[in-house]
Amino acid sequence: MTNMPLTEDALSPKLDHLAGLVSRYAKPEYAVAHGGHVQTIAAGHYTVSGLSRHVRLGEFVAHKSATGIHLGEVVRVEPELAYVCPIEPGEPIGIHDTVIRKGAFRISPAESWCGRTINSLCEPIDGLGPIVEGLDRRSISNTAPPSMTRKRVEKGFRTGVRAIDIFSPLCHGQRLGIFAGSGVGKSTLLSMLAKADAFDRVVIALVGERGREVREFIEDTLGENMKKSIAVVATSDESPMLRKMAPLTAVTIAEHFRDQGDNVLLIVDSVTRFAHAIREVATASGEPPIARGYPASVFTELPRLLERAGPGPEGTGTITAIISILVDGDNHNDPIADSTRGILDGHIVLQRSIAEEGRYPPIDPLASISRLARKAWTPDQEKLVSRLKTLIHRFEETRDLRLIGGYRPGADPDLDMAVKQVPIIYDVLKQSPGDRESADAFADLAAALKTAAGIPNQPSTIPTRPRG
Ligand SMILES: Nc1ncnc2c1ncn2[C@@H]1O[C@H](COP(=O)(O)OP(=O)(O)OP(=O)(O)O)[C@@H](O)[C@H]1O
Ligand SMILES: [Mg+2]
Repeated sequence: MTNMPLTEDALSPKLDHLAGLVSRYAKPEYAVAHGGHVQTIAAGHYTVSGLSRHVRLGEFVAHKSATGIHLGEVVRVEPELAYVCPIEPGEPIGIHDTVIRKGAFRISPAESWCGRTINSLCEPIDGLGPIVEGLDRRSISNTAPPSMTRKRVEKGFRTGVRAIDIFSPLCHGQRLGIFAGSGVGKSTLLSMLAKADAFDRVVIALVGERGREVREFIEDTLGENMKKSIAVVATSDESPMLRKMAPLTAVTIAEHFRDQGDNVLLIVDSVTRFAHAIREVATASGEPPIARGYPASVFTELPRLLERAGPGPEGTGTITAIISILVDGDNHNDPIADSTRGILDGHIVLQRSIAEEGRYPPIDPLASISRLARKAWTPDQEKLVSRLKTLIHRFEETRDLRLIGGYRPGADPDLDMAVKQVPIIYDVLKQSPGDRESADAFADLAAALKTAAGIPNQPSTIPTRPRG
């Protein structure tokens, strides 16, 4: 055979063939599985050699142990070692066990998941049989849509909770935080909001809850609404990795429905326990704390999670997020409360002193703000609420004075009005989960004030804006 030099014409088909092979085998199903071996084992993590050059932070690996295959997340990468936190606690890990790279954790939500309760790995935990995966495959660590492509938040909706519909009305695509100390009424208020009929889907992440509360929330509170809801649960006894993943799985499911054009309500109870889980994982991997024991990664993960909620790009629906924040020792300036307040479009503050008076939900109307309230109120409603707040402020600031007998009716007409009307306003705001939902909170308030003043009850004269 003669050694002919290859001309350009002869080379071209060979190069085309090569390019075809490269593009064919570059697909994920042909990806070479990168593997390594366990080197050291500690309480919250293990290290793997041979993977550092191939894995990225936040990717998943599969660990082959004597009892089967277990997932873990890469939480730190050094030149020679990758640090992995096991997803499930208690898996037997041995030195030199094989660990294979899996890549980003992906889920495939589907319509049929509605009505189901799953764990952070999308495994059913409600005893109703297996769940069927859909065709839409998504990574749980997706990023939010670019801000300039997102629709604007414009349309108000009725929650049915009078204290919110009057003082801090909400809009589709808003992100709202409920801030309170422990046992003040966060979960109960969230469960009342989960019943709002303005949504096509409800996705609930229960993070670090007590096991008892989970069934109560799902069975008693959601009731009929469970048909359009999906609950993602990681109870307090589960691993920090599962607790950290629950809100991410939930927001990914919400994104699936949002992209189909649905208005989705995302509830996270509580974001503080999500932050605690990140802190536990970070501490195990040696990340230094920067504020009250919280590592820097908490303050990057929180905005990443919350930014994913909100309105979607044109042609899609919205994700309205309502999350609870436990404020440590009733200190509303703790690092998690502080950083989430800055990211959200509004906050509802629950006060222990109001709960102690038996006024539930213990919402403080003066401290609570919805940054999008103006889009939900009519101009008349806005004026009225401003007047109501002045009365409440006057009533509260003279509370001690009135208790010691320093109040004389007739000396200050504004105070007289506050003393007469604020107890009636407070009465209207009282609401329990079992109570009738309010169809028009302003009409309820107007009716109560008129009855107290002895005026026959006619329909409210405050025009209401149509809500979605
Ligand atoms: N709207 C309400 N009507 C009547 N009682 C209520 C209401 N909200 C809360 N409560 C009472 O307050 C208790 C604590 O409420 P809840 O469990 O919602 O608090 P939490 O802030 O979620 O607590 P934790 O911080 O422990 O999660 C309830 O068991 C109930 O007795
Ligand atoms: Mg709670």
